[in-house]
Amino acid sequence: MSGSSSNEMWGGRFAASPDQILEKINASIDFDQRLAHQDIVGSKAHARMLAAQGVLTEADADAICDGLDRILDEIERGEFAFSTALEDIHMNVEARLKELIGEPAGRLHTGRSRNDQVATDFKLWVRDRIDATDAQLEALIRALLDQAQAGADLVMPGFTHLQTAQPVTWGHHMMAYVEMFARDRARFQDARARLNECPLGAAALAGTSFPIDREATAQTLGFDRPAANSLDAVSDRDFALDFMAAASICATHLSRFAEELVIWSSAQFDFVRLSDAFTTGSSIMPQKKNPDAAELVRAKVGRINGALVGLLTVMKGLPLAYSKDMQEDKERVFEAADALSLSLAAMTGMVADMTPNPDRLREAAGHGFSTATDLADWLVRELNMPFRDAHHVTGAIVKLAETKNVGLEDLALEDMQGVAPSITAAVFDVLGVDKSVASRDSYGGTAPEQVRAQIARWRGLLG
Ligand code: ARG
Repeated sequence: MSGSSSNEMWGGRFAASPDQILEKINASIDFDQRLAHQDIVGSKAHARMLAAQGVLTEADADAICDGLDRILDEIERGEFAFSTALEDIHMNVEARLKELIGEPAGRLHTGRSRNDQVATDFKLWVRDRIDATDAQLEALIRALLDQAQAGADLVMPGFTHLQTAQPVTWGHHMMAYVEMFARDRARFQDARARLNECPLGAAALAGTSFPIDREATAQTLGFDRPAANSLDAVSDRDFALDFMAAASICATHLSRFAEELVIWSSAQFDFVRLSDAFTTGSSIMPQKKNPDAAELVRAKVGRINGALVGLLTVMKGLPLAYSKDMQEDKERVFEAADALSLSLAAMTGMVADMTPNPDRLREAAGHGFSTATDLADWLVRELNMPFRDAHHVTGAIVKLAETKNVGLEDLALEDMQGVAPSITAAVFDVLGVDKSVASRDSYGGTAPEQVRAQIARWRGLLG
């Protein structure tokens, strides 16, 4: 199966071409071509630094950088012929550079290795995706703020155990997700700050004897500083794991919200109408409007968690420094990044387009004696009853209402007084759902006034 010619990069030591199976398992060009832009930016920074240090002539550095620009242009125009025999993006680019500029191409790899090169490229790629994710999260948060503002007074049931608990507002529910997605942004920013040390110049694993300037390349590439240990620099994939861990948590939030949209858009709930743009019809049941986009956002977390666990498993037990195992990092990260980006876009579209159903939300808000806590709180506040007694009295009144098949606010005063004689007509002031939510005006509570204050706070923070 082996061919006859030796590999052009390390042919000095190897007599025969790699077996085709080796070529297949070894090559990463099918996926790491996504690093082309970062690879070229990194190589240009390296070449310029080598020239500034007197390791390369300015003429060679100019030729290298011009050649790299041409290659990037070819890649962006789809005219670049990627070769599996050349294994990865780094060797594909270098081989093409040799075709274009000849001898100086061979000087580019001075004082570096593919090990620090790939770590640098990949960090740059992940950093770009963190920034893109941050922008997507901001757009989602803005869509949620608009929903919250429009529905700041809209009462709906709040749930625990998916059982009606206490009335809340639509605005409050939307703002809960604003908090979650804002924490996601913070997690991605943490990951970015930790990532931002430059591996370039760590070379294969031990550093280099050439007089390189690692501060300079770090600065050119927008890193805060060079990574301080060359062994760690080439064997670290924490930045990929950090990114995917943040992506997993974010996807978990998206999945929870998606599940609520699936439930809320069902005929049984009918809390919200999703737009036609994010639902599909059934090929057999004409009445159906399926929340496919929400279901798929709910599901994508599976891929993202899978990618995280996949790379954690690859990295565990790896000795220092670089091992080829680590080439398995990129597809995991690409898959997680793509799934997250699509999920965020779909969720933002759904949120921007959805319409809450105020009548149904209000009706459901009053179900299940949702203002029973308001009654108990009133007994404590107005009659100075100990809360435990108030809880007991309220339970008896709820039972009475249940027997009569009416809501708490529909009971006669005499019925309530039959349970606790000191109750007055003023109790009816707290029993409606609007009164219930308005009364919950503690900091962070569901009262429309509190919700509006949070919307204003977040809009101020976003600028
Ligand atoms: N394609 C490789 C990767 O993705 C690049 C680094 C290869 N280094 C090496 N010594 N074989 O990890």
